[in-house]
Amino acid sequence: MRALRLPAGFEWGISTSAFQIEGASAADGRTPSVWDTFCAQPGRIAGGDRPDPGCDHYHRWKDDVDLLAGLGVDSYRFSVSWSRVLAGGRAANPRGFAFYDRLVDALLAAGIEPVVNLFHWDLPQDLQDAGGWRSRDTAYVFAEYAEKLATALADRVTRWSTMNEPFEHFGLGHVLGFHAPGQNLTGVAAFSVAHHLLLAHGLGVRAVRAGGARQVGLINSYAPVRPVNGGGDGAAACALDAIQNRLFTDPVLLGEYPAGLDAFEMDPASKPVRSGDLEIIAAPLDFLGVNYYNVLAVSAPEPADPLPFRLAELPGFDRTASGWPVVPDGMRETLVMLKDRYRDALPPLYVTETGAAYDEKPDADGFCDDFERVAFLASHVEAIAEAVASGVDVRGAMLWSLLDNFEWAEGFSQRFGLVHVDFQTAQRTPKASYYWYRDLIRGVTP
Ligand code: FCB
Repeated sequence: MRALRLPAGFEWGISTSAFQIEGASAADGRTPSVWDTFCAQPGRIAGGDRPDPGCDHYHRWKDDVDLLAGLGVDSYRFSVSWSRVLAGGRAANPRGFAFYDRLVDALLAAGIEPVVNLFHWDLPQDLQDAGGWRSRDTAYVFAEYAEKLATALADRVTRWSTMNEPFEHFGLGHVLGFHAPGQNLTGVAAFSVAHHLLLAHGLGVRAVRAGGARQVGLINSYAPVRPVNGGGDGAAACALDAIQNRLFTDPVLLGEYPAGLDAFEMDPASKPVRSGDLEIIAAPLDFLGVNYYNVLAVSAPEPADPLPFRLAELPGFDRTASGWPVVPDGMRETLVMLKDRYRDALPPLYVTETGAAYDEKPDADGFCDDFERVAFLASHVEAIAEAVASGVDVRGAMLWSLLDNFEWAEGFSQRFGLVHVDFQTAQRTPKASYYWYRDLIRGVTP
């Protein structure tokens, strides 16, 4: 790997999410989330995998803080299980709060900055039963949750994110139905989900600040879109770009919905949008989190296709075990695209996720040589440094993920961890990538 040229103080971190690592789904008063419900439905999760106990982080969190300390990260981004801290999404559960309280204290004692994400797709099932994200009320209940959490932790947690990847939760969960809550919405119904997620973000920003949070941001996923047949597929590429890269960013940074949503029969002038909503959604942010995994190739749709684009294969690149093409330059392209597109409206950036699934296992000596992941991470970190060199204000990078974990509808079949987890015993074994990242952090941070 080339010597990295990054500013002094560039932050190195790592990310997880509650539902993917905690297990303990019924412990200490936790109530079900939409993902618990979804996982219990036959055929939803590859191999019929069940998330609990999985990594069992709820009981093994001390081991995981030790792993973080050994890695030497500056920051650790995790999400809070809304269903654990508020029964049914509303009623305070002191034992749930106590878990995150302990975790935050242990991280601080280990010299690691906790970065709290409030929502990583695990809506309390009771709120889903009351309408979920189709209901405007959910955005207001989210704000109450956000304020309660901030009131409990903002004396020790500086940096907060309202939510992670609302686009995936909207698209995979509410339009394509591959993720919880498994819906197939179209038109105004689909648009209402997107709008209420955005409204929840905006109300959440206010609420965590009211609870004492000093820095607040939003974490989105981005993917450069490439038309496979050049100009002929340009309209399809614009449509996918509008929904993947702009739907959850233009309203937040520019205070307006992007053009092109009519291709999805979504109308920003329709009923869910009330006067004043866009001002709430565009509340100033302290940072934008960027999750990048790959680029998307697209061609024009066939006449019977339900969407105004068709995803295509991107030839000529290696692929991870998820089948995703490995395109490190897409990271640089994404960061530069954000700077060019939003200019003065763009807050400082953190890369909040990048990583890869590969299926390596520990050998007889217990060593797990995930050289492909090391190559993936090294090339993507270099691409971040290139973006910084060309003037993009990126303050840090958080890798996905500390542990192999429950990869949503793929169950345990896709391993993204720098630490291998044996899901029979929950035993953790650092992989070569863990030691690679530890050395990188030691060498680059002042
Ligand atoms: C992102 C999600 C994260 C994980 C990675 C692989 O889209 O935010 O939870 O599933 O992909």
